[in-house]
Amino acid sequence: MRADAEETGLPILELQSVSKHFGAIHALNEVDLTLESGEVLGLMGDNGAGKSTLVKVIAGNFPPTHGEVRIGGEPVHFHKPVEARQKGVEVVYQDLALCNNLSASANVFLGREIKRRAGPLRWLDHKAMAKRAGELFSELKSETRPRDLVRQMSGGQRQAVAIARTRLSQARMVLMDEPTAAISVRQVAEVLDLIRRLKDSGMAIMLISHRMPDVFAVCDRVVVMRRGRKVADKAIHATSPEEVTGLITGAIHAA
Ligand SMILES: Nc1ncnc2c1ncn2[C@@H]1O[C@H](COP(=O)(O)OP(=O)(O)O)[C@@H](O)[C@H]1O
Ligand SMILES: [Mg+2]
Repeated sequence: MRADAEETGLPILELQSVSKHFGAIHALNEVDLTLESGEVLGLMGDNGAGKSTLVKVIAGNFPPTHGEVRIGGEPVHFHKPVEARQKGVEVVYQDLALCNNLSASANVFLGREIKRRAGPLRWLDHKAMAKRAGELFSELKSETRPRDLVRQMSGGQRQAVAIARTRLSQARMVLMDEPTAAISVRQVAEVLDLIRRLKDSGMAIMLISHRMPDVFAVCDRVVVMRRGRKVADKAIHATSPEEVTGLITGAIHAA
């Protein structure tokens, strides 16, 4: 079907010497990075290190000032998020961007609703969407019910809704910005399970997190950013929370 990374032997995502400047601010400086299918990459760094900017460059919010982004080996030049989505890039944003007054199912399909038509009439097929949303939640082994209102959901269930959204498309990678920042311990475990299921389905995942235990629980590799630069890129078993903390704070310069 698609020339996927497994077939071509290329990483699904490659950044080569990517920089992003906002006027005098160098939010990203010559960042090289790869991400493989079925891999969970932890992206760590202090506030202002450039993590969200990195995600936004990959997700098409703005083009890099310099450098190249390649997906499945092909250089891409995104100017809008929809262009990145068409290439299989899905993002779960920090604030999740869900509508509290709508059901789980309506949120999953927000902006890509299933419609029915008869002659000149078109209407939303709520039944079909609820059915498909229910399938997605059960694939993710989440107890979220399609017709429940997002307003009444736990943080973990909200994450499940945001993650289920990414399953609608032919996503190849999911970029997650702090999915476990504001939820309870039990829900964190649920979200980490969701991430493992995405990984097992062959998805490439980039997980931005401040939470060291989460990164060490689910990530295969960790990249540390500091002041717009990548200061470390290591297999998770080749580093430690202490080393990563030192890299984040600058106590250790590079590893
Ligand atoms: N749209 C923008 N305009 C100007 N400066 C920005 C913009 N977005 C981010 N920055 C700056 O770029 C740097 C990196 O920010 P960011 O990527 O949000 O860091 P992080 O997500 O690691 O906390 C910060 O100095 C931030 O103030
Ligand atoms: Mg950020």
